[in-house]
Order: sequence, then structure tokens, then C-alpha cells
Amino acid sequence: MEGLALSSNIIAVLSLAGKLLAAGYQYGSSSAQFPPELRHLVQEVTALSGVLHAVKILVEDPADNSRSTNGSTGDLIRTMGEPVEQCRKLVEAMLRDLQRYDGASRRRGVWRFCWPLKEKTTKEWCERLERNKSLFEVALSVDEVSLAREIRNDVEDIKAIRFLNTQDEKQAAYSRLFSILSEL
Ligand SMILES: *[C@@H]1O[C@H](CO)[C@@H](O)[C@H](O)[C@H]1NC(C)=O
Ligand SMILES: *[C@@H]1O[C@H](CO)[C@@H](O)[C@H](O)[C@H]1NC(C)=O
Repeated sequence: MEGLALSSNIIAVLSLAGKLLAAGYQYGSSSAQFPPELRHLVQEVTALSGVLHAVKILVEDPADNSRSTNGSTGDLIRTMGEPVEQCRKLVEAMLRDLQRYDGASRRRGVWRFCWPLKEKTTKEWCERLERNKSLFEVALSVDEVSLAREIRNDVEDIKAIRFLNTQDEKQAAYSRLFSILSEL
């Protein structure tokens, strides 16, 4: 259930991020050249969405369910709850900020007068998004490492079983040979 709550919270962030992207594009394309800081913002939101999508896939992967109590996915779900919640609040606050200014400041065609936020504020948003994204990236790479470790352990197990099997087969072959020899 924890996993389910996490993935629906991620879906909420993705949906908010989609709205933010739409707003970014709307403002951006109203200017002759897509403004650099807005481009940066759109890139950050897109990157964050991509990373969150990857977290979501990992959390929802049915193949991981067996590991979800003790394994890496369980750790991921436990550690991601709070950061995802923070990230949702961040994106929500950004949207609120944008909507607060909606309409009123969109009278003129010059982009800088349309986009409701100061360049500095937009940059700060980008930095927060970036930090949030990095946290998820680290979590993903850590999860990959523990996933790789688990896979390697599984492979080792398989090798050990194969080895034992071949030993058994050899043993069986020897005993057959011995019994044949002893009957001679
Ligand atoms: C999870 O870990 C606990 C304690 O380490 C252990 O008792 C339990 O059997 C484990 N569960 C699974 C599904 O591996
Ligand atoms: C994500 O953004 C929120 C809002 O600015 C911030 O409180 C939180 O610390 C950020 N997370 C990271 C890991 O920087």
C-alpha cells in the first residue's frame, strides 16, 4: 500500500509538472525567441518528470514485488515518500505563483512583461527543481546498485546450484560405473 500511495503521489507531481510545462510553453512561445531562463525552467521540469517517471516504474514493477519488503524497492519506497511529497509541494507552489499573476500581467506582448516572475525567482525555481531531481537520481542509482547486487547474488546462487547438480550427476555416474564394475 505504501508503494501505491507513493506512485499516486508521483502521478500527482507529474500532472502538476505537465501544467507547469504548458504554462512555460505558453509564455515562452508568446515571445519571438524562447527566453533562456524559461527554456531552462522547461528543461528542468522535463528532466525532473523523466526521473520521477523512472522512480514510478521501479516502484510499480510487479517483478519487484517479491523484493518489496526487504529488498531495494522497499528501501526506495521508504526513502522516497518524503522527497516526493516535498517535490509535489514545490511544483504546486510554483504553479500557484504563476496563476496568481495570471491574466493581470499578460497584457503586453513583450515576454518579460508577460512572465510573472523575476529572472532571479525563475532561476531559484530551477535550482530547487535541480536539487530535487538530483536527489531522485541518486536514489535511482543507489537502487540500481543494490538491484545489480541482488541480480549478482541470484546468478551466484544459480551457478552454485548448477555446480551442485553437475557434482550430483558426476556422483551418480560414478556410482553407476562402480555398481557395473562391482558386478563384473
Ligand atoms: C525480511 O527481513 C526480516 C529480518 O531481517 C526477515 O525476518 C524476513 O524473513 C525477511 N522477509 C523476506 C520476505 O525476505
Ligand atoms: C526540493 O524542493 C523543496 C522546495 O524548495 C525543498 O524544500 C527541498 O529541500 C528540495 N529537496 C532537495 C533534496 O533539495
